[in-house]
Amino acid sequence: MRPLSAARPRLPLAACALLAGGCVGTGVQDVLAPRGPQAERIADWFWISFALAVAVFVAFVAVLAYGLLRARRLGERNELPPAHGRNLVLWGGLVVPTAILLVLLVLSAYTDRRISRLGRGAGPEPLTIEVVGEQFWWQVRYLDPAHPHREFTTANEIHVPTGRPVRLLLESRDVIHSFWVPNLHGKTDLIPGRTNDLVFQVDEPGVYRGQCAEFCGTQHARMALLVEALPPAEFAAWWERQLRPPAPPTDSVRVKGRDVFMKNGCGVCHSIRGTPARGRVAPDLTHFASRRTIAAGTLPNTRGHLGGWISDPQGIKPGNRMPAVPLKGEELQALLDYLHSLK
Ligand code: CUA
Repeated sequence: MRPLSAARPRLPLAACALLAGGCVGTGVQDVLAPRGPQAERIADWFWISFALAVAVFVAFVAVLAYGLLRARRLGERNELPPAHGRNLVLWGGLVVPTAILLVLLVLSAYTDRRISRLGRGAGPEPLTIEVVGEQFWWQVRYLDPAHPHREFTTANEIHVPTGRPVRLLLESRDVIHSFWVPNLHGKTDLIPGRTNDLVFQVDEPGVYRGQCAEFCGTQHARMALLVEALPPAEFAAWWERQLRPPAPPTDSVRVKGRDVFMKNGCGVCHSIRGTPARGRVAPDLTHFASRRTIAAGTLPNTRGHLGGWISDPQGIKPGNRMPAVPLKGEELQALLDYLHSLK
């Protein structure tokens, strides 16, 4: 075994690397990996503040080191005229910090103005999506006021076109949540009784993870979401697919699965377009099989995880609103077949 003394110098380095790796560089939920103009402005602002903070730190350490060295050299004879100390306090403690804070204040207001102008002036019309925060998932409604028959609802995964501003109308029906996709924009709260809006744009196709950023109850930490940015043509095709209800099941197992769904009251909370399931208080499952995750980003949408979720939702996400429905083994298998046929 290596003696501890040999390992010790590496510990601070390892700790720094761990901290840095945990915060930046992975690209996932990373403010410093901006993927759109709004996030770029925020990242610019971060780097300017960071550079200023580093400059202040270096200046402070330099003055401190100078003072310590000088004190050692002068020894007992270290007596400065009182005016010397007063000047240092006046400049170092008042004038310079006030100037730096003013610079940060002006830059912050300037960044805010630049962001709020983006996507709201000339240029392509923003796509408007209503996002409602629920304990503990996200309802997502695609709006098209000129063609209401082309509107639809989905959950937890927000598809957007690249290169076009997206305007989110953020609402809540229960408590305060906060919408945050760090690669795309800052946080905006979802507050019961009011509508906040957030405009962002994604420049590169990809999947960006987001997270509820305001404590909203026991499962706040498991209230994630994904934003998937598609090139405009693919996005248009995706929208057309979403409008079509899923084809009714034809094989006997899936037919049985649909009956299990309807007879056990799942449709009281969930909707599946084209069926009697019209519930509005739980995620719309019309195209459930096309989702990447279940339970708001908690688990991958695989057969095994879905079976576990339906059998014991309170064990996986205690305090969520989904009750466990007692099913026989073959009923559960048929239900899984049916749900994963909802493409
Ligand atoms: Cu919703 Cu935290």
